[in-house]
Amino acid sequence: MQDNKKVQQFILQEKVGFGAFGEVYKAIDENTSEIFAIKRIFSGRSQQIDQSTIREIAALSSLKGQNHIVPLQKVIFEKGCVYIVLPFYPYNLYEHIKQNDDINYKKVFKQLLLGVYNIHKLGFMHRDLKPLNILVDDNQNVYISDFGIARMNFGQCRNFNSNCEKHSYEVITLHFRPPENLLGCDNYHVSVDVWSLGCVFYQVVMKEILFYGDSQIEMLFKIFSKLGTPSAFIAPSLCSLPLFNEAAAFPRFYPTKYLYQEELLSRIGYEGADLIDRMIQLEPSRRITISEALQHQYFL
Ligand SMILES: Nc1ncnc2c1ncn2[C@@H]1O[C@H](COP(=O)(O)OP(=O)(O)O)[C@@H](O)[C@H]1O
Ligand SMILES: [Mg+2]
Repeated sequence: MQDNKKVQQFILQEKVGFGAFGEVYKAIDENTSEIFAIKRIFSGRSQQIDQSTIREIAALSSLKGQNHIVPLQKVIFEKGCVYIVLPFYPYNLYEHIKQNDDINYKKVFKQLLLGVYNIHKLGFMHRDLKPLNILVDDNQNVYISDFGIARMNFGQCRNFNSNCEKHSYEVITLHFRPPENLLGCDNYHVSVDVWSLGCVFYQVVMKEILFYGDSQIEMLFKIFSKLGTPSAFIAPSLCSLPLFNEAAAFPRFYPTKYLYQEELLSRIGYEGADLIDRMIQLEPSRRITISEALQHQYFL
């Protein structure tokens, strides 16, 4: 049967996940009985490997050995498919927070910051940080995964008007996509990952998506209604972005204290709320950097 097939020494078992680019199976190494996860990506009739697979393999290879990044074990090319072999983890963060009320927030946040620190240190942006792309083991250790749209960030610029390399702005799953991408910015930088991670932290604590919208415009509406509509004062660089005119038709919202709610404060305190607040800043250059976040009071 196709789905119980063998790839080298790995016997594929049940499917444990599927996404935009492939299917993920639990697999057993018949020599050692060790369990792995294998991401199978079809290359189709052309037998050509698509750009996202190349990106994923390149990023995973460069990041091998870095803490809190899913460690690549092996890549197999066989009969028109690419198989990426990874350790098997029992949960992704989305499932884990749904099933578990006993979350060590500090531990999870610190590990995620260290993981993203390692990604940025080697010159990559992840560009798809979300609970489904974070894997969790039985000891609540977390590992960043799914580098299908990760890319090198050569520019490292923090100014949209400077002459930096252009990137596609239609990246990052909608609910975790920062306002600069929603407004058509094509030379964003690593601070996009800081925004997404801030949204992940909020979701881990509150078990609900922070900004829930079905379209780009609804996302902007949701973001502005909590953080305020961009102005030269609140978020100057957003006001010069290509799609801002459309957004200018929004009502003039003022910033709210959405993080300072009893439930959130009882779980992570004022320091935890302050950390998330500094990650989720409209103006990208005002967002805390990952290394600053690791030094934040919350972790002292
Ligand atoms: N190493 C792994 N161990 C266990 N489950 C995994 C592993 N890698 C991925 N998965 C599961 O498969 C899902 C899809 O994998 P992912 O790499 O995110 O693929 P896609 O690029 O298609 O989104 C994940 O959300 C997760 O639930
Ligand atoms: Mg994924």
